Amino acid sequence: TSAKTTDRTSEWTDRDGVTGRIRIPAPIAMLAELTHRCPLACPYCSNPLELEGISTELSTQEWIRVFQEAAALGVLHLHLSGGEPASRRDLVELTAAAAKAGLYTNLITSGIGLNERRIAELSAAGLDHLQLSIQGATPVLADKVGGYKGGYDRKIAVAEWTHAAGIPLTVNAVCHKQNMDELGAMLDLAVELGARRIEIATVQFHGWAEKNRKALMPTKEQVLHANAFVEEARKRLEGIIVIDYVPADHHSTFPKACMGGWGRTGLNVTPSGKVLPCHAAESIPSLNFETVRDMSLTDIWYDSQAFNAYRGDSWMPDLCRSCDRKGVDFGGCRCQAMALAGDAATTDPVCILSPMRHLLVEQAEIDSRAEPPEFVYRGR
Ligand code: SF4
Ligand code: FES
Repeated sequence: TSAKTTDRTSEWTDRDGVTGRIRIPAPIAMLAELTHRCPLACPYCSNPLELEGISTELSTQEWIRVFQEAAALGVLHLHLSGGEPASRRDLVELTAAAAKAGLYTNLITSGIGLNERRIAELSAAGLDHLQLSIQGATPVLADKVGGYKGGYDRKIAVAEWTHAAGIPLTVNAVCHKQNMDELGAMLDLAVELGARRIEIATVQFHGWAEKNRKALMPTKEQVLHANAFVEEARKRLEGIIVIDYVPADHHSTFPKACMGGWGRTGLNVTPSGKVLPCHAAESIPSLNFETVRDMSLTDIWYDSQAFNAYRGDSWMPDLCRSCDRKGVDFGGCRCQAMALAGDAATTDPVCILSPMRHLLVEQAEIDSRAEPPEFVYRGR
């Protein structure tokens, strides 16, 4: 597959009224949140507090049109996500349509809602890759974290069926205070399940996760131990499994290039068709979001207010605008700046140069030392 559109330029005006033009690249990846429905209730869920209901979800035909528009815009990778995408009865049909549009398809799933027959159908429909979440290395912890009894056993079966269908498998594990000491066992499980890759992501506090900070925030000792463990395991397991690792923000020196930079590489479409620059963008009150029901994906990507809000460097505070890392991390995560500093257009407080950094570290320290309270599960 190759990108089908050329990049565009757009006019900008900076804080001092100076105008210029900026090059806007075509996006590479699209995350399609097919539904917010989900049988699991993970306490670190990054979906918003208010979920979109089934009655507002895009229809099969609407999603198919969106996939075609995405391919025409230049998107190469389509992540079929949720909620739990297997909750959509038309998942096989949607996968087939995406593959037909020329998109590389990755199903991001908890495994619940899949069976052997459905996985074989997804394979026949052209599914390129499956990413399976695990919540722990043992049934007791995993089912407690996911809030779903029997979930662990189902995931083991789903991994076996995926392997049998010849679909490449990645295992995804969110790590936090209560499972971080099981990292080794989770890695062993991923290898046993035949995964080619494991993504170990330290919990991030967007959406529902914010309600469980004290139950989830890892201690500094846990983070340092995890960092060393990953470094050692990467060498030991070279050629067997690839380890992608997202370390804890508050022990990093500089922020991540969230989404590869705002409006630069990817976009998210919510179940009702709202198009977002990142999954937490709705937490920024000054942004307006267009929907695929009213506007084409191409117009939204290049011309909408939300996508242009933090492109380039004209929006940046002087600290970032004069920094030689601005082309590396793009000033960090806008949603984190909003959540922690109350201003989405400020330096990500994760940055060691940010005057707000100490607030982030102090709060993380308090949350990590707290005796973990019971998880707050959505809707219970
Ligand atoms: Fe990144 Fe801004 Fe920090 Fe520089 S000052 S490292 S651009 S967040
Ligand atoms: Fe929104 Fe990072 S999650 S920019």
